Amino acid sequence: MASIRERLAELRERVLAGDAAGVERQHALGKRTARERLDMLLDEDSFIEIDLYRQHQARGMKISENRPHSDGVVAGSGTIHGRRVFVYSQDFSVFGGSLGAAHASKIHKVMDLAIATGCPIIGLNDSGGARIQEGVMALDAYGGIFRRNVAASGIVPQISVVIGPCAGGAAYSPALTDFTFMVRDTAKMYLTGPDVVEAVSGERVTHEELGGAEVHGSLSGVATFVHDDEESCLEDVRFLVSLLPGNNMDGPPEGEPVGATSDVRPRLAEIVPPEPNKPYDMRAVVAELVDDEEFLEVHENWARNIVCGLARIDGQVVGVVGNQPMAFAGVLDSAAAQKAARFVRFCDAFGIPLVTLVDVPGFLPGSEQEHGGAIRHGAKLLYAYCEATVPRIQVIIRKAYGGAYIVMDSRSIGTDLSLAWPTNEIAVMGAEGAVNVLFRRELAAAADPVALRAELIAEYTEQLMHPRYAAERGLVDDVIDPVETRAAVARGLRMMATKRRTAPARKHGNVPL
Ligand code: HXC
Repeated sequence: MASIRERLAELRERVLAGDAAGVERQHALGKRTARERLDMLLDEDSFIEIDLYRQHQARGMKISENRPHSDGVVAGSGTIHGRRVFVYSQDFSVFGGSLGAAHASKIHKVMDLAIATGCPIIGLNDSGGARIQEGVMALDAYGGIFRRNVAASGIVPQISVVIGPCAGGAAYSPALTDFTFMVRDTAKMYLTGPDVVEAVSGERVTHEELGGAEVHGSLSGVATFVHDDEESCLEDVRFLVSLLPGNNMDGPPEGEPVGATSDVRPRLAEIVPPEPNKPYDMRAVVAELVDDEEFLEVHENWARNIVCGLARIDGQVVGVVGNQPMAFAGVLDSAAAQKAARFVRFCDAFGIPLVTLVDVPGFLPGSEQEHGGAIRHGAKLLYAYCEATVPRIQVIIRKAYGGAYIVMDSRSIGTDLSLAWPTNEIAVMGAEGAVNVLFRRELAAAADPVALRAELIAEYTEQLMHPRYAAERGLVDDVIDPVETRAAVARGLRMMATKRRTAPARKHGNVPL
């Protein structure tokens, strides 16, 4: 009779034999296997697997003849840079990675453990969606994931990596998580595939055109990060995790101070052109402000008129939001407001201080924006800032006009520290427009309207637009030399490190979705 250890060895052998066939099939598709991906993602030898022996219990439709172990998903926990995470990795070589009751219950289990232990959840998605042979049980199982995604939201960071198909309702899990990575060529996300699209509307579209990484990285905003290959993608997931807290009670991982509080950056005085309408790359300003120029930008190619991302300043993890004068002159529009609002809410939920770099001429005018609900979308960003209780620092780099000034973390909506460069223009509107509104009659009657206009513009600029006007009224706390911005922000972060705020209890606010 076989000993207990022999029986265990025999069981493992059977499971791994199944895996070997799967490896070949997956490699033939030019993809890594579920286990190879976890090897790349996690610290060496850190993976603790659960439910290796799990099999589906479905019957009929020929599925009862085939019950592969692990049921198409590898699940468990490991560490990234020594910090614990919970993971699942779908195995396309088993029923196309499709999700049935057993497969899903493994995912439910790791999600429950992640929430209970306060650790991030990372899901590697490579799946044909709901397992057709399991009928409504598969749909029920998806619902269990969505419910847990929502329960975990704001409690533990959630990261989705899409490295294969992620179709139908399956796409809603990444959409409910905090960050979605996609890999070019292999990743596809859509609610209905090209065949259904053609049948319903006659539109012919390829998988890539409909829901490839490029589309979601630049047009829809569904993908937060887009990568060329699985290796660089998983490497960036590791980097992202290194910047995130395990949960909403921990605060982000602290790094060693690097002397930023006395740092002088001469380049900061050169990046921003003195001409008010000349563009520059806000990311060049960010690079000077953050440690080692390391900036993990979210949605790099979507809503490029606003820049959002995570970095460290003097070792402290911060979320940076900045208008981008290089794209549409840095105006706020619907997409930019949605992108920044979601980012601000993420940072606030996980105790990450916010640094907002302002150079904004206003909102993008036009019927397309208005009819598309620009008011609703802009309100999301306003709401997100008003609600944020993390330390908040506003740096007005150049322009801050009208409602856009208010939205970009102004004093009135609760910034803790407002710093302004001396070159900037803070006002209800630009000088030309203001003079036209205020002095239309005088200009019409003037003997020399050109000279009068120039005189009035100079007067308005001097009196109302200089940051001195805002500083004298307490809306700006300090007017700083640009080269000292990194030091001033680092000191501000230290000053507010212990910030606390309690608001009256409520079930939740009604964020304008
Ligand atoms: C069961 C599935 C499956 C599924 C794929 N397979 N999807 N088995 N349920 N949903 C199986 C295939 O039969 C095949 O088995 C193997 O996986 C590989 O699939 P292929 O089609 O050969 O691969 P490929 O050509 O790469 O195409 C991948 C694919 C395609 C684009 C994902 O398989 C596909 O369109 N699948 C169906 C997608 C779908 O409509 N899913 C339901 C979505 S609705 P063999 O034995 O031949 O290797 C949904 C609802 C969720 O998910 C709702 C939640 C609320």
